[in-house]
Amino acid sequence: MNLLNTVRDRFAAALAGMVTDVAPVLEMIRPAQDAKFGDFQANFAMPLSKQLGKPPREIAQMAVDHLEISDLCEPAEIAGPGFINLRLRDEFIAQRISVIAGDDRLGVQPTHALRNIVVDFSGPNVAKPMHVGHLRSTVIGDAICKTLRFAGHHVTSDNHIGDWGTQFGMIIYGYRYLRDDAAFAENSVGELARLYKLVNTLSDYQNSVAKLPDLEQTAATLKTQLAVQEVSAGDDEKTKKQLGSIHKQLAAADEAVRNTRNTISSVESDLDLHRLSQSHPGIARLARDETVKLHTGDAENNRLWNKFLPDCLEALNRIYQRLGIEFDLALGESYYNSMLPDVVSSLKAKNLARVSEGATCVFIEGNDAPFIVQKTDGAFTYATTDLATIQYRRETLKADEMLYVVDKRQSEHFHQLFATAALWGMNDARFQHVSFGTVMGKDGKPYKTRSGDTVGLESLLDEAITRARRIVDENDDRRETPMLSSDDRAAVAEIVGIGGIKYADLHHNRDSDYIFDWDKMLATTGDTATYMQYAYARICGIFRKLEVDRITLASKNSTILLTTPEERRLALQLLMFGASIDGMLQDYRPHTLTSWLFETADAFSKFYDRCSVQDAESTELRHSRLILCDLMARALRTGLSLLGIKVADVM
Ligand code: ARG
Repeated sequence: MNLLNTVRDRFAAALAGMVTDVAPVLEMIRPAQDAKFGDFQANFAMPLSKQLGKPPREIAQMAVDHLEISDLCEPAEIAGPGFINLRLRDEFIAQRISVIAGDDRLGVQPTHALRNIVVDFSGPNVAKPMHVGHLRSTVIGDAICKTLRFAGHHVTSDNHIGDWGTQFGMIIYGYRYLRDDAAFAENSVGELARLYKLVNTLSDYQNSVAKLPDLEQTAATLKTQLAVQEVSAGDDEKTKKQLGSIHKQLAAADEAVRNTRNTISSVESDLDLHRLSQSHPGIARLARDETVKLHTGDAENNRLWNKFLPDCLEALNRIYQRLGIEFDLALGESYYNSMLPDVVSSLKAKNLARVSEGATCVFIEGNDAPFIVQKTDGAFTYATTDLATIQYRRETLKADEMLYVVDKRQSEHFHQLFATAALWGMNDARFQHVSFGTVMGKDGKPYKTRSGDTVGLESLLDEAITRARRIVDENDDRRETPMLSSDDRAAVAEIVGIGGIKYADLHHNRDSDYIFDWDKMLATTGDTATYMQYAYARICGIFRKLEVDRITLASKNSTILLTTPEERRLALQLLMFGASIDGMLQDYRPHTLTSWLFETADAFSKFYDRCSVQDAESTELRHSRLILCDLMARALRTGLSLLGIKVADVM
C-alpha cells in the first residue's frame, strides 16, 4: 500500500465534479513538513481558486465536504488561506502496522501495471581504466533495477560495454609497436591500459603541436580587435555588449592556448616520450586506421581483439563481483557490429538520414549539431550502435521502456538518440536518460582514474574496506568481550566499506556533482550506510539480549499501542515505505529512498531514546514496541537491499 496514494485517491474522488484534470492537483497533496500541520497537507485550493473563480477557502471547504476519509483520518481542518490539513487516526496507523508486522515488504504489493524495462548501466570501456563515473552509473543503475524488480516490473539489466570503440585502434597500434612483453605477460590488462594512455598522450601531443599556431592566431586577432574596439568605443549599451563578448572570446582563446602549450610541454619535458613521438609521427591517424581495419574484418586485428577481450572482461567482472552486482546481459558494442549497415540504410530509406559534407547524418530539429551515423571514412559511430541497440531491445527483448544510466555530459547524445529512434518508428517505447553529475575530489576537480594519477577503482574498493575494518575493529574491541572473529570482522568490513561507497553516491540527488570524502562516507552518525547498518545490528542486539525470537514475534499477537508521539512518528514513517518506493521510481532518483531510510532511522532513534522496550509499563506495550523494533530492522534490511547494500546482525 502506498499511503500517500491512498490519500490522493480519496481526494481524486472528492474533486471529480470540480476539476477536469485532477492529476496535477493531486501532486499538491504531500506529507506535511511540520507535524503541527498533521500528517498530510493539501495545498491545491489557492492555485485552483483562479481556475474556478472562487475563494480558496470555499474550494477547500467544497473538497472537504466531498472527502470520504473518516476511516483513515480525523476530520480535516482548513487552515490559513485554504490549506487542508489531515491527521491520520491513531487506530488506523496501529491497525496498519499490525497488518504488516513480520512482513519484509512492509505491506508493499507488487504493481499491476507491470512494464518490461531494460536498464542500460555501467558501460565501461574495455581496456581503458574504469573510472568513478562508471562506478556511479553502476551503483545507481543497480539500485534502480533492484527497486523496479521489487515493485514488480520485469527488468533486464544490460551492460553496454564499450568493447568496439576507437580505443582498440590505439591499443592494437600500441601493442604492435610499443608493448613491453614482460609487463604484458605479468598483467595484460594493466599493460593494455598503459598502451592506451601512451598512444592517447602521443596523439594529443601531436594534435596540439599541429593546432597551436591557429589557436595563437585566433587569440592574437581577438586581442587586436579588442584594442581597436576599445579606442573607438562609445559607451552605449550595444558597444559595451560587444566588448564584453570579445573579452569572453579572448579569455577562452587564451585558455585554449595555455592548455595546448601545457600538453605540449608535458611531453617535451620528458625525453623518452618526446623521442617516441618523433618515431611515431601521425599516430592518431595510424591508430584510427587500425580501428577501421578491425571494424571491416581484418583478420589480424580481429585476432588481437579476441586475444585482449577475455582478460579485460575478467578484470571488469572482478569489480562487479566485489560490488555484488550482476547483469542479465552484457551485450557490448561489438555485438551490434553486423547490424550497423542496415541501420544506416533503413534511416536513409525513411529519409531520416542524409549525406552532409561526406558524413551520413540525422538532423534533429532544435539541435545545431548533426547526429552522425556514418563518418566520412565510412566508420559507424557510437550513435549507430545505440540505434541498433534500441532496435534489438525493442524487437527482440520487447522492451517498452529503456533507461540509460549515463553521465549527464552525454545528454545531447541521448536527446538526439531518442528523437531519432522516435522518428525511426520506435515511438511506442519510453526512453529516459537517467543522468548523473560528476564525482569531485576535495580539490574541486573531477575525481577520476583515467589520467592514471588518481586512485584506480579496485584500490578504491580496497581502501574503503581497509578504512571500514578500522571502524569495525575499534567497535568490537570496545566490547567487554569482543563478539567477532577475525573472519567475521573481515566480512563485516566488506559490507561496511562497499555499502559506504554505494550509499555516499546514492544519497545525493543524482544530477548533482558531489565530493568524494572518505570521512563523511564512513561516519557512524548521519546520513550514511554505516549509521543504518549499525542501527540494524543494534536492533538485532536488542532481540538477542531480551532473548526474543523475531520469527514468531508477530504471529500470535500483533496489537500495536501508540502511547507516545515517538511511537506514532516511527509507525507512520514505516507506513510511508511504499510512497518512498513510488517516489524513487517516478523519476529514478535513489536519494528519495535514502531520505526515507534516514528519516525512518531518525524516528527510530528518537523512539528508542524515549521509549523503553525492556521496561515498558506493560507486557502488551513491550510486545508492541518489539514489533516496531522488528519492523524497523526489516525496513532497514529491505530498504538497503534495494540499494545493493548489505547488513550484518553483529557489527
Ligand atoms: N561506454 C560509454 C561511456 O563510457 C557508456 C555507455 C552508455 N550506454 C549506451 N547505450 N550508450 O561513455
